Amino acid sequence: MKKISLIGAGNIGGTLASIIAEKNLCEEILLVDILEGLAQGKAMDLSQSRAINGFSAKYIGTSNFRAIHNSQVIIVTAGVARKPGMTRDDLIEINFKVMKDIGSAIKTYSPNAFVICVTNPLDAMVWTLKKVSGLKKQMIVGMAGTLDSSRFRFFLSQELQISEKYIQTMVLGGHGDTMVPLLKYTTVSGIPLLELIEKKFISKSKVHEIIERTRNGGGEIVKLLKSSSAFYAPAISTIEIAESFLKNEKKLIPCSSYLEGEYGVKDLFVGIPVIIGKNGVERIVELKFDRDEKDNFNHSVRSVVELTKKCKKLLE
Ligand code: NAI
Ligand code: 2OP
Repeated sequence: MKKISLIGAGNIGGTLASIIAEKNLCEEILLVDILEGLAQGKAMDLSQSRAINGFSAKYIGTSNFRAIHNSQVIIVTAGVARKPGMTRDDLIEINFKVMKDIGSAIKTYSPNAFVICVTNPLDAMVWTLKKVSGLKKQMIVGMAGTLDSSRFRFFLSQELQISEKYIQTMVLGGHGDTMVPLLKYTTVSGIPLLELIEKKFISKSKVHEIIERTRNGGGEIVKLLKSSSAFYAPAISTIEIAESFLKNEKKLIPCSSYLEGEYGVKDLFVGIPVIIGKNGVERIVELKFDRDEKDNFNHSVRSVVELTKKCKKLLE
């Protein structure tokens, strides 16, 4: 029986639980949350939509980590989300402890699962989760690039007045203000964006404004929501990865993945293009950067190094 465990039943966890049933991705959806009653309440609420929705998945809610045993996929959204004025980095100490507990639970109860981490600060949290759980590097990724790329596509679509469905792009690097949207790899139905800039469909300065807006996309939503951060787009961006694993779809998408020398980076999770199939991360795609792209990517990597260093210290 296919089972997906959602550790963290907050805004993203609850939204994931709903999408997973509607997409019929598994037979059992387990919600786990430390807050007594939250996972149980959401599981019951979602179960009561089944008669009308017509999906067949069974929901279980619990605060006991033991229940994650035999999961095919585990999605970790547990922890604290950003509040106004808070940076992703402020979250580090609180969420580090959460990752430690969850990493040990995965090691004990479900060591063969494919794990997707969403909790911020993303690249440092997925690093911590890997170290504590002992998962193989192919079996654990962080979600950020699919969300950041989707945001970039949306903003471009608004400006170009072309459906985002036909816009392809890659946002790499760390999930933070230093993320790297790659213009060279941004196309509209195969036409390079750079050519559309030449043809005056959009100005270079507008594209740079959009890049900045993408970098601050999470913060913009926090300011509006006030008491929580984005969750609808983050949830579907996580499903993009889970579905590729469960259905062996071999999507080539950006994920925060463990690097051992690729891109000149070692022992770090950074957003890069990977192929996700039934074996998890099946291949890392190394892109050829021009000088500016390389500088931007290295700058982003340096910010991930700083965050990860804090976790390394906390682990000692
Ligand atoms: P939320 O606050 O709605 O949900 C988090 C849940 O985790 C809460 O229900 C809380 O009780 C639970 N929790 C806390 N400690 C726990 C533990 N030790 N074990 C089990 N459950 C625990 O937050 P939301 O909106 O769902 O966001 C979750 C995380 O995802 C945050 O860290 C947020 O910053 C991050 N995020 C990451 C994105 C990305 O692109 N990677 C995008 C959006 C949010
Ligand atoms: C986001 O990008 C806050 O990381 C979160 O929405």
